[in-house]
Amino acid sequence: MTAQTVPTTDDSGTPQDRPRLAAAVVLAAGEGTRMRSSTPKMLHTIGGRSLLGHVLTATRELDARRTAVVVRHQAERVAEHARAIAEGVLVVEQDELPGTGAAVRSALSVLDAAAHADRAAHGVPLGQEGQVLGDGLEGAVLVVAGDLPLLDAGTLGELVASHVADGNAVTVLTTVVADPTGYGRVVREDGTGDVLKIVEHRDASAEELEVAEINTSVYVFDAGVLRAGLARITQHNAQGELYLTDVVALAREDGGQVRAIVSEDPYAVEGVNDRVQLATLGRILNDRVLEDWMRAGVTIVDPATTWVDVDVDLAPDVTILPGTQLHGATVVSAGATIGPDTTLTDVEVGEGAVVSRTHATLSVIGAGANVGPFAYLRPGSVLGEKGKIGTFVETKNAHIGAGSKVPHLSYVGDATVGEGTNIGAATVFVNYDGVHKHHTTIGSHARTGADNLFVAPVTVGDGAYTGAGSVIRQDVPAGALGVSAGAQRNIDGWVERRRPGTAAAQAAAAARGEGVEPTGDDDSSDDAVVPATEPATLTGAMPALGAQALRELAKHADAADQPRPTSPHSEALDDTFTIRTARTEGTDR
Ligand code: UD1
Ligand code: CA
Repeated sequence: MTAQTVPTTDDSGTPQDRPRLAAAVVLAAGEGTRMRSSTPKMLHTIGGRSLLGHVLTATRELDARRTAVVVRHQAERVAEHARAIAEGVLVVEQDELPGTGAAVRSALSVLDAAAHADRAAHGVPLGQEGQVLGDGLEGAVLVVAGDLPLLDAGTLGELVASHVADGNAVTVLTTVVADPTGYGRVVREDGTGDVLKIVEHRDASAEELEVAEINTSVYVFDAGVLRAGLARITQHNAQGELYLTDVVALAREDGGQVRAIVSEDPYAVEGVNDRVQLATLGRILNDRVLEDWMRAGVTIVDPATTWVDVDVDLAPDVTILPGTQLHGATVVSAGATIGPDTTLTDVEVGEGAVVSRTHATLSVIGAGANVGPFAYLRPGSVLGEKGKIGTFVETKNAHIGAGSKVPHLSYVGDATVGEGTNIGAATVFVNYDGVHKHHTTIGSHARTGADNLFVAPVTVGDGAYTGAGSVIRQDVPAGALGVSAGAQRNIDGWVERRRPGTAAAQAAAAARGEGVEPTGDDDSSDDAVVPATEPATLTGAMPALGAQALRELAKHADAADQPRPTSPHSEALDDTFTIRTARTEGTDR
């Protein structure tokens, strides 16, 4: 048995010698019937990565010269996926014969051909008739079932290392389980402990069925031993299949040494056969991912309700609040707080940002920005540094500049908003004319009024204002006030004439100093009625609040309820002020 040794680099960057695998073969041809799915089993995901993807990630670290993936059931779909996630992978279609032995045989014939081609390309002397000499592939071949998502490169590395160190013909990764039903049993030789054979459950004797050590479908074979064995296996067994496991006894017959390594981590070698196992292993994987992040300095308040995909990247001092899912290639920078109840998929979050009760996909949230609660960021949303996408706001394909705010109840689609701009509450960027999508541009330091419609394509210049309730169909030049709403008309006495006897009519009469106090028996409104002549006090307006809440509210009342400074350039200016200003000025025209 020959296995070449090449210098490689381990995680810590120190060079070390590790035997290089001639090939890795991943078995992914099985149907996975017990999944009861139209999706091939290998394409089901945990931690945001397919089962096949997990195995290919683990084998990639071993740096095999070639990696082959064997497909058959929904071959095209699995093949396409394998090529997409693992560059340079050889996709091999299994022939009609059933069984893991048939699968590896198909792979080996392709790997042999590739090895011949390599040799020819390197100018190795040819035989008399110009044929490439030799059998093909030489060295150690890793064979792995594609449905072992928690299999790690460390375990595989140990298997390969011991295979090479012991000079084995075959090295089997095994595990000991409480219930070995259905698995191949590992039959060891008394005394040496070497493996004599692997017996499939349905072919096992009563004595063999007692064995609790099972084959995990992870092995290293010497290429020559594998080739010789696969040529001799037969379908004479209970399932009428070509068993890869039969190669073990044949290797022994030929004088080879077969040893086994017992995996200490039962999950690393647990296969996914149904959706219960999919969920179980998904949970274990998630636990491991979260533990790694917590050890790396991330606060995860409730690991039980937090899900983080394997490709997510979190910086130290990120805080994740309960009910949060981070998917795909999401990246969160230092000091950001995510959650509660937030789902981010392929989202980049800047340092110190706060993202609460938010659903976001393919978006960027700038450093120090504030998103939510109850925000929906669809693909292409980019929020600048210290910007805000507030409550009940939906964005899509929208660039909102640094310090700009969309605080309340708005839709911002196909838009560019400059820096330091405030978009008034209840604004809709009307991007769709029923046929085409159009773009809206709002400049920097603009103040748009509440309840605006921006009918795209339209542009609002830097420093411009718009009046409340405006439908902006034409460009607003820089510094202008755009107003579309007509002047307000008050029809005096309308309520008492047209709604006589209602609580509103009584309140109107009372406000004029006539009639009686409102009885409150008008079922048209459950809202508290506050006479306009008496300014609402905290206690008067909100009698339902408890004493503690009132004390807290009073502490914040100054900040929340006092009129704002009136400088139009003040950064503290909010949309409420903008609305008032715009209305006053708008009616002056
Ligand atoms: C196989 C082993 C058994 C082991 C068990 C561990 C054989 C004969 N038996 O059982 O000793 O305990 O795995 O789970 O190998 N596959 C193909 N082509 C096929 C059949 C299967 O590529 O024709 C692939 C499957 O996609 C899967 C792997 O091989 O990735 C194992 O197949 P599966 O049917 O789950 O295992 P068994 O053959 O029952
Ligand atoms: Ca299986």
